[in-house]
Amino acid sequence: MEYQVVIPAAGQGKRMKAGMNKQFIELHHQPIIVHTLKVFEQDDWCQGIIVVINEAEREQFHTLFEQFPIKKVVSMVSGGAERQHSVYNGLKAVKNSEIVLIHDGARPFITMEKIHELVKEAEEHGAAILAVPMKDTVKRAFDGFVAETVERSSLWAVQTPQAFRISLVLEAHEQARKDGYVGTDDASLVERMGKKVKIIEGDYRNIKLTTPDDLLFAEAILSNWPSC
Ligand code: CTP
Ligand code: MG
Repeated sequence: MEYQVVIPAAGQGKRMKAGMNKQFIELHHQPIIVHTLKVFEQDDWCQGIIVVINEAEREQFHTLFEQFPIKKVVSMVSGGAERQHSVYNGLKAVKNSEIVLIHDGARPFITMEKIHELVKEAEEHGAAILAVPMKDTVKRAFDGFVAETVERSSLWAVQTPQAFRISLVLEAHEQARKDGYVGTDDASLVERMGKKVKIIEGDYRNIKLTTPDDLLFAEAILSNWPSC
């Protein structure tokens, strides 16, 4: 089986407060983006990596991919104002691939096993995402008071990668653009077209590095990571 992967890495990392794009922060002497790309580099099913970048950082990314080395990057495209715009630019660069994965550059703890599960399910259903059952009780709030306690057993916390048939996800992005809709993940754009999205149970370690605390968790995860 084969796929290509789009990696949005064009954000500013404002919540990380590192004064730079968080993709370049080092964990165990390697930048976060390198940790993220390694599994795709090693996966025989992966036919190409499309990295979405901020134009001002093109040289920095290029140097890293030579240094570490990451050889499967077939294209580096410019990002947009929102993650969704960045992903759309990346999707347009996908060539000759039936299945595309979309995976955050800031999510370095993804395994080949989960990637393969996603690809198989996306081939069958058109769309598949990774998610973990919610551990916390979730309440909807209004004006500082609880409006409702949401039934936890049906709640899932969603991660990336998300895997799609390329024709389906491109159509969903184009429809969202026409409607001026901006979603918080790519699957939501497919859902609003009335299409089914398969959930695959993921791993709690597949965190997105968002705030400074996440770097502490990342160090702990990395210390127990098989390839280390
Ligand atoms: N991203 C992107 N283009 C954007 C915004 C985000 O490619 N316009 C990417 C980020 O680089 C990241 C992923 O989408 O890998 C998930 O976004 P997020 O965690 O929100 O990262 P940032 O937008 O960089 O962080 P923040 O929201 O704190 O500024
Ligand atoms: Mg963001």
